[in-house]
Amino acid sequence: MTDSHAWFSRMRFGLFVHFGLYSTLARHEWVMTTERTSPEEYEKNAAYFDPDRFDAADIARSARQAGMRYAVLTTKHHEGFAMFDTALSDYNSMATCGRDFVAEFVQACRAEGLRVGLYHSLIDWHHPDFTIDQHHPLRDRADVAQLNAGRDMARYRAYLHGQVRELLTNYGQIDYLFFDFTYPDPMDGKPGKGPQDWDSAGLLAMVRELQPGIVVNDRLGIPGDLVTPEQYQPDAPMQRDGAEVLWEACQTLNGSWGYDRDNLDFKSPDLLVRMLVDTVSKNGNMLLNIGPDRRGAITPVDRSSLAALGEWMQLHEGSVIGAGAAGIPAPSGTVFTRRADRLYLHLLHWPFGHVHLPDMAGKVGFARFLHDGSQVRCSEIDPEQQAMNTIPGGQPPGTLTLNLPTAQPPVAVPVIELFLTTDGMAGIAEDRTEDIAADGMERATED
Ligand code: GLC
Repeated sequence: MTDSHAWFSRMRFGLFVHFGLYSTLARHEWVMTTERTSPEEYEKNAAYFDPDRFDAADIARSARQAGMRYAVLTTKHHEGFAMFDTALSDYNSMATCGRDFVAEFVQACRAEGLRVGLYHSLIDWHHPDFTIDQHHPLRDRADVAQLNAGRDMARYRAYLHGQVRELLTNYGQIDYLFFDFTYPDPMDGKPGKGPQDWDSAGLLAMVRELQPGIVVNDRLGIPGDLVTPEQYQPDAPMQRDGAEVLWEACQTLNGSWGYDRDNLDFKSPDLLVRMLVDTVSKNGNMLLNIGPDRRGAITPVDRSSLAALGEWMQLHEGSVIGAGAAGIPAPSGTVFTRRADRLYLHLLHWPFGHVHLPDMAGKVGFARFLHDGSQVRCSEIDPEQQAMNTIPGGQPPGTLTLNLPTAQPPVAVPVIELFLTTDGMAGIAEDRTEDIAADGMERATED
């Protein structure tokens, strides 16, 4: 069981794909509820849904070329429209354009050697039995109580479980399931929805029975295999009840998950690289999102962001894939990751001349840049050395100094690979990634 989860933290970098009927409106995937659109009005869009440029092979290839190792597609978002062939409703892409996007996606991921993930919304603003709550598009109507009287969450639960069963039965091995989301607390006088609304325990049991090796996130409102911080970077490895847990930060390129045509608030490629290495340095994964346009195509900005990440990953993936927290503090302006006896120093700002690494003297056998393999000279500066006009002062005993070229190498974030000696390894806390995977699994099985 543990082994089947270990892949997740080794792979570190995945692609999230938000694509659905909402891509038509191009105003964020929550558009149905932010604009208070009734299901009858909203579903009219389905008749025009014919994404002629959705090319799963292109998406999977782009992910692979960006250095990603897994990908996750939205199968049904909160709007309720299924992107797959479901027997349980005719509100689906097969009915409107004769395509099963999940089938296309799963096949393309496998062809590129990517692990396959599916996102499925617990919420459904289209289903007639889903009760109107704080997030529902009809929440402001005067007759909410009356409308809710005719709705039966037990019937919706059966539908939800049924669609999840289809997804986990009809498409072969699914490696990762991303449920979204649970909100038990009331808001603005309207109820939320908790694990009992989904029968989370029953749903999770069914998922594990259908796909015994699957990794499941924590958004059922009961513990899963990992935690999923969204749109922020945790400042340390994530913990629950004092113990480290597997985690994956999901991040957008511009703050929206679904195609949001007029939102140009894009993160720069350099920032994305820094976010990725920051994540790995805290034992996390990064799931980075793209929102294909209404025709299904990867947008130009999304494509160039993936390409820039790929350019960096092609030379530097050694510091990311299979790597994790280094177990030693990093000097200011740098981030450390480690993979077995290799320590990776990421220089977030290019310093002039030197980087000093406290307590590392005698612990490094060789140092080189990762992008071109060229040696980085190491020295120890005599602690007694007096600072003079052109001579820097001494460094504390045990400090290892790396001597850098003046110009930053032409990569977004330069990385220096340090080969640790046996002494170097002895001083560093053991890599706990696999233990964490095991712990997470045990916790989930107990619940
Ligand atoms: C949130 C949003 C949703 C998005 C998801 C991604 O829960 O409701 O729109 O799909 O996060 O993690």
